[in-house]
Amino acid sequence: MAGIRMDGLAVAGAVKIQVAGGVAGLKEDGKVPCLATVLVGDNPASAVYVRNKHRACAEAGIATRDHKIPADVTQQELDGLIGRLNGDDGVHGILVQLPLPDHIDVFRTISLISPEKDVDGLTPASAGLLAAGRARMVACTPLGIVRMLDHYRIGIEGRHAVIINRSGLIGKPLYHLLLQRNATVTTCHSRTTDLAGICRRADIVVTGVGDRARFTLTPEMIREGAVVVDVAINRVDGKLAGDADYQGIIRKASHATPVPGGVGPMTVAMLLRNTLVAAGGDGV
Ligand code: GUN
Repeated sequence: MAGIRMDGLAVAGAVKIQVAGGVAGLKEDGKVPCLATVLVGDNPASAVYVRNKHRACAEAGIATRDHKIPADVTQQELDGLIGRLNGDDGVHGILVQLPLPDHIDVFRTISLISPEKDVDGLTPASAGLLAAGRARMVACTPLGIVRMLDHYRIGIEGRHAVIINRSGLIGKPLYHLLLQRNATVTTCHSRTTDLAGICRRADIVVTGVGDRARFTLTPEMIREGAVVVDVAINRVDGKLAGDADYQGIIRKASHATPVPGGVGPMTVAMLLRNTLVAAGGDGV
């Protein structure tokens, strides 16, 4: 029997409605939540992601500021912009879209964002609070993954979760979130040996490699009834696809996320949620 397709669009839609309610409440008190995005250069994928984020904000009643900066911006100029956004009381959330051009120091740039406005949860302050179990802002993709698991009533406690990604945006924060929910968590990466063997022992597999020439998560790599969450976005034969062979995986898994329509919309919904919280609203 085929597994259940986890519908990120539907779950994200429900979260958006909740966020819109919170935003409306803040507006009654005269406060309009506002997200400022900073997009450096002309990476086409990043431009699409930022456009989607602006559209979602508008749908939830969140105001936006759109800073599009030429690729040859200096570090000093970028630092100056972050400083001005930090000091602007009309801006509640700041998102610097990654990746940044090679001449820009990513860690320095992200570190300059005021932790109160860090809706991406990427600053060292946010990462440290998460590791200490005191997070206020958590990176949107991991937050969206846990929300999706909860929506489908997938137990986390005591389960073995395998994460194939070790980035600060996905793998590391997700490790902490799942650990705090009492999962046994294994983080895998490009130097992991016997990846297939580790995945076959997992109750929950989260994959975020993004290079189908090197890696595809196949049905042989999961155990019967496993849960598969696919974070990657690849182009395969001109179409969007994740890391997983979805059609094969869904026949063996208990639940799996499609690409597109899985984790992606949840990431955007959690950005709205974090912006609401940064503006003083209650978390949804
Ligand atoms: N690039 C890809 N995903 C993200 C994200 O969630 N936040 C930021 N800032 N950049 C990204």
